[in-house]
Amino acid sequence: MSRIKIPGLIDIHVHLREPGATQKEDFYTGSRAAVAGGFTFIIDMPNNPLPTITQERLEEKISLSKQKAICDVGFHFGTNGKNIDEFKYAIESPNVFGLKIYCNHTTGEMLIEDENLLENVFSAWNSEKPILVHAEDEQLKKVLAFSKKYNRQLHVCHISQESEVEMIRQAKKEGQKVTAGVTPHHLYLTNKDVKRLKGFAMMKPPLGTKDDQEALWKGLNDGTIDIIETDHAPHTKEEKIVDENGKTAFGVPGLETALGLMYKATVDRRITNDDVIKFLYTNPKKIFSIKEQEDTYVELDPSVPFIVGENGYESKCGWSPFEGITLYGKPQKVVLRGEIILENGVIIKS
Ligand code: NCD
Ligand code: ZN
Repeated sequence: MSRIKIPGLIDIHVHLREPGATQKEDFYTGSRAAVAGGFTFIIDMPNNPLPTITQERLEEKISLSKQKAICDVGFHFGTNGKNIDEFKYAIESPNVFGLKIYCNHTTGEMLIEDENLLENVFSAWNSEKPILVHAEDEQLKKVLAFSKKYNRQLHVCHISQESEVEMIRQAKKEGQKVTAGVTPHHLYLTNKDVKRLKGFAMMKPPLGTKDDQEALWKGLNDGTIDIIETDHAPHTKEEKIVDENGKTAFGVPGLETALGLMYKATVDRRITNDDVIKFLYTNPKKIFSIKEQEDTYVELDPSVPFIVGENGYESKCGWSPFEGITLYGKPQKVVLRGEIILENGVIIKS
């Protein structure tokens, strides 16, 4: 092959950690990781130590990102079920792309367990902007029912189990307004890898079985799963060491390896080159109504291998569960609105 030109990619699921947890990442380092990985538009999640559930907290993030990020950053608004008064602002804000609901335990303090609260949220988010859910298995059943009842646009984040693929396949068949995303780590790792990688392969949702993994690839290929989302969730190496109680911080970085893993999937004949663009650009752009970034593109050669971590990382966390693995198609040039921000594989914008 030779060098090709692709659009600036979109990742609708990243945790840039600022403010409040900048030992892990911040808008500068996180956006550099994005650009190194071929992304020019990323959407930040609301589970900061002080969750992004008010206008004031969101505006603080917008202002920090404008000062520090080297690519475009959008936001998902958060909810604990008790900030419904803030929804009007979030629905109207051009910086907000969706509402994130946590129905399972993970990093942050936004779990909604009470069913009435959950229903109130679905009822109150009267918007075309999607409701994004972290909802595994039984919780997924619940949110599919609420989103049907209130006719909401639902995006199911990082599905990881065969049963979830099946539920979404069924809901789509029935005409429900639902989309789904999968992470590269759930496509390329299984629960067997935890033995080798320990804390560095622990995240929410946890890695599944080989059967789950096959179901995810199948879901990608038959249109059940619409997008790849990295769930870039950096933690420091110290935080990832499993303590004597078996505890660790959940989450793995993904911005610098997602595209390379997807080109590996083309080499492995799992998906096509066109699919890469569909899952990392066309579909996320459409689902989250993201405006075109004019004169923005990435150049790379998808047949050229590179080794993860051989030149270090842009992400502040400085590690990857894929370290040492051969991937393909490292971005050689990234242009954002006519400005070259990465050239010869190196970020030149400061
Ligand atoms: C995420 C994090 O660390 O913020 N962790 C994870 O394991 N995925 C939170 C989340 O997306 O669930
Ligand atoms: Zn996440």
